[in-house]
Amino acid sequence: MWLQLCENLLRARQWRRCFCLVQMALLAACDGRQSALDPAGTGAESIVVLFWWMCGGAALIWVAVMGIAVYSTQAHPEAHGIRSARWLIFGGGILFPIVVLTALLVYGLMLMQPLRSTADIALRVDVSGEQWWWRVRYHTDTGEAVELANEIRLPVGQRVAFNLTSPDVIHSFWIPSLGGKVDMIPGRSNQLVLEPTRTGTFRGVCAEFCGTSHALMAFSVVVMEPAAFDAWLAGQAKPAPEPQSALQRQGQRAFLSNGCGACHRVRGTEADGTVGPDLTHVGSRLSLAAGTLPADIEAFQRWIGHTGQIKPDVRMPTFGMLPNDQLTAMAHYLKGLE
Ligand code: CUA
Repeated sequence: MWLQLCENLLRARQWRRCFCLVQMALLAACDGRQSALDPAGTGAESIVVLFWWMCGGAALIWVAVMGIAVYSTQAHPEAHGIRSARWLIFGGGILFPIVVLTALLVYGLMLMQPLRSTADIALRVDVSGEQWWWRVRYHTDTGEAVELANEIRLPVGQRVAFNLTSPDVIHSFWIPSLGGKVDMIPGRSNQLVLEPTRTGTFRGVCAEFCGTSHALMAFSVVVMEPAAFDAWLAGQAKPAPEPQSALQRQGQRAFLSNGCGACHRVRGTEADGTVGPDLTHVGSRLSLAAGTLPADIEAFQRWIGHTGQIKPDVRMPTFGMLPNDQLTAMAHYLKGLE
């Protein structure tokens, strides 16, 4: 009896845990920043319609199958004729799936057609998925490329073509609020067209396991009014601002003398590395280390001093051996690069 009671308790606890997990998953899915169910782009709008059709269809089929099961085992449990069994297998097992799957395929292809069209592209953005951050490159009207990292800004109501690549392993570019996901494959260039329909700040993620810190590879997506977007891009195209305070100047000296410029570029200074993220305007970004930390001075200092602990296996070495005042000065300098 005790054994039975313990088993029942365990089962109740497992059910409760299961219920909590489902609740958490649903709540996470409803967070507007990263929800395919709260669309902010034409791609996501089409996908959510398809999702609800499939959900409704699956619920109807489940009810029908349960109805047939209850009918044949409870209402009429006696043996059924071979003729009706054959009809059930032919109708429910062959004919019905063919009709439903063909209809879904045709509907899906019809939805994809306008989403893949490259007509009326207003902006082209190159994004490269790298272990474990995002290299983003805009092309300005003057033909000059503007590179930044882990942040994408888009003008609302305009079609944007993303050119997606990767230099190392397969990543997957996904902004759930705006549209579907597309893989970034080494040696290939894939295209994704998105059209944001409302302004706001959203979250993009890597949707393909790509190594130890795959889960620490997110990016911010800010959809802005077109005029604000143009002003932002013009600001990003400018060289880095000069350090203003004595502390920032000390930070710049520490940044350059410790070899940070071998991997990072700060346009307007001698730092011109291209291995890691371009830091020209890093102080204006919404997060640090690809969505892992907030973009404040304290986080800059933590990141430089504890790189490998915050993001395991990251290529950037840890600079925890530097004196604390140098780390603080570097954090002030980098935060000042707005
Ligand atoms: Cu990149 Cu997962």
